[in-house]
Amino acid sequence: MTVRSQGGMDRTRLAPGENAAAHDGFMNAPVVLQAAASPVSPALVLRPWRMEDVAALVEVSRDPALRQWANSVVDDDADGARWVQAQQQGWAAGNRFGFAVLETQPGSVREQLLGNVVLKEVAAGKPAAEVGYWTAAHARGRGVASRALEALTNWAFDTFKADGLERLELLHQVDNLASCRVAQKSRYNFNTTLPAAPPAFPRDGHLHTRRTSA
Ligand SMILES: CC(C)(COP(=O)(O)OP(=O)(O)OC[C@H]1O[C@@H](n2cnc3c(N)ncnc32)[C@H](O)[C@@H]1OP(=O)(O)O)[C@@H](O)C(=O)NCCC(=O)NCCS
Repeated sequence: MTVRSQGGMDRTRLAPGENAAAHDGFMNAPVVLQAAASPVSPALVLRPWRMEDVAALVEVSRDPALRQWANSVVDDDADGARWVQAQQQGWAAGNRFGFAVLETQPGSVREQLLGNVVLKEVAAGKPAAEVGYWTAAHARGRGVASRALEALTNWAFDTFKADGLERLELLHQVDNLASCRVAQKSRYNFNTTLPAAPPAFPRDGHLHTRRTSA
């Protein structure tokens, strides 16, 4: 069954534990987060993915590192549209919240796509959810992932603490050293090493955790 929200976007039926009221609010007024400028990078804007992002998404998805580590293959506009649609379905269902990370150069109205951060596996009454991220190759090493992750983390705890959210989990393959560094910088403490689980996780992984009080 499909439910049409007031915001006009189709969504599938809410599963048990999903918070209809909160997520109707997201559909009516899209969430926009900000991260302050750093000495090497302008301020960041985080907002839900839109169909107009598809061309830039396809462009950044050519990067082999993104394909290797982010476990997502977008080859053309059709793949890109499906991927964006999946993010929009997550917002509508209230269990996955993907943000495009963008920057605007001073004096320009054009936003440039720099990356993605996502809060996933969210359900009312569930104490844990998961975060994920990637940064476009041209924007790496400027604190994009860590600043965007901080903004996402604060929003997640502010928004879902009342629903029972206590901790956020971050998983990366053991040899993804850049991702491990992002986790450390963002106060996601190393928790344990998880065994490989192919095909999604062909190598052992690190589980990092951040709690509401961190
Ligand atoms: C991991 C990734 C998201 C980091 O994005 P980013 O915007 O460059 O991240 P930041 O600039 O906030 O921080 C990166 C840190 O990793 C460090 N780093 C980069 N490559 C590294 C490497 N090979 N070994 C160790 N550290 C490394 C950087 O020096 C930086 O740390 P510093 O600030 O202490 O110098 C990016 O490399 C990426 O998109 N990779 C492909 C997709 C991916 O791996 N996603 C995560 C899946 S779990």
